[in-house]
Amino acid sequence: MSEGLIRRSVLTGVGHYLPEKITSNAEMALRVDTSDDWITERTGIKQRHFAGSHETAAFMGAAAAREALAKAGVDPLAVNAIILATSTPDQAFPATAVHVQAAIGAHNAFGFDLAAACSGFIYGLSVADGLIRAGQADNILVIGSEVYSRILNFEDRGTCVLFGDGAAAVLLQARDVAPGSKGVLSTHLHSDGRLADMLYVDGAVGQPEKSGKLVMNGREVFRHAVTLLSSAVNEALTANGLTNKDIDWLVPHQANRRIIDSVGKKLGLTEAQVVVTVDQHANTSAASIPLALYQAMSDGRILPGQLVLLEALGGGLTWGSALIRL
Ligand code: ACO
Repeated sequence: MSEGLIRRSVLTGVGHYLPEKITSNAEMALRVDTSDDWITERTGIKQRHFAGSHETAAFMGAAAAREALAKAGVDPLAVNAIILATSTPDQAFPATAVHVQAAIGAHNAFGFDLAAACSGFIYGLSVADGLIRAGQADNILVIGSEVYSRILNFEDRGTCVLFGDGAAAVLLQARDVAPGSKGVLSTHLHSDGRLADMLYVDGAVGQPEKSGKLVMNGREVFRHAVTLLSSAVNEALTANGLTNKDIDWLVPHQANRRIIDSVGKKLGLTEAQVVVTVDQHANTSAASIPLALYQAMSDGRILPGQLVLLEALGGGLTWGSALIRL
């Protein structure tokens, strides 16, 4: 390695997949007692994509991964690892990641799934960054892929209007760079299992007698979200000796427009610096941050060299932040 350079994880490609079928708030109002006004005012959501039966987490994750590799110009056989964050895997096992591996022809990689609900992408990024810094891998796909429509209770208007399906992927590659000049600068992860009852899937594999559907105390999640997310973003800035003035973009988990706005405001960012896709995608859990990143990188808003702050909170509770210079 040349003098003064350090090994870091650099984001070189991003890809996405959204199911063809779009369901508007008005269409949701035909299924449950709700309205476009209520959903828009409380959450900022206008529509969501719902997967067809063939659009599984593996199918969507593979499509997103293919695009990320193509954008980076990297052959699937050069991928060393696939980390797929999901709460809605195709099967309990094998991991959805190995189905993606087979589908894209990444036969030299190892793959595993990661369960951290809506924080899954930040957790995945953190694990991948650790593997790259330690020299265990050079090229890692981090994928968020979710089909929440399979675990929604379509009789509970308090939750079924909030979520959507989709996938996105990033390719992280080892590069020797000047400190702070490029790549994942830091990740910070947290969980508190004492808050597990606030947001969970009722049963499923280990408790087949239960419903297998998502349950949420939205008001309590909301209350914790603003405080915990603000502390996670401050933690990221402090750890890097940076201030809010150094941030170019906030790419937050897309759960609720009000949560996004209040974290952005606490950080002192302008509305234009905060990437919002919750209006189009609703909450796609582990896929929401990379989908938002994809959108803002593809439309030319986020530019090479800029500093991007990511944050998320989800079932667990889990939460965390990541700081990346692109
Ligand atoms: N349409 C119309 N009315 C509704 C709907 C609906 N879809 N849902 C609930 N209501 C009603 C309720 O029944 C209640 O009526 P009542 O006062 O007569 O009892 C009223 O609206 C208010 O309900 P609240 O739940 O208190 O509404 P609130 O303002 O808290 O908004 C929301 C609910 C949008 C869910 C909000 O709490 C929220 O966004 N929470 C955070 C969710 C989140 O961040 N999740 C992230 C993690 S997700 C993951 O990890 C998988």
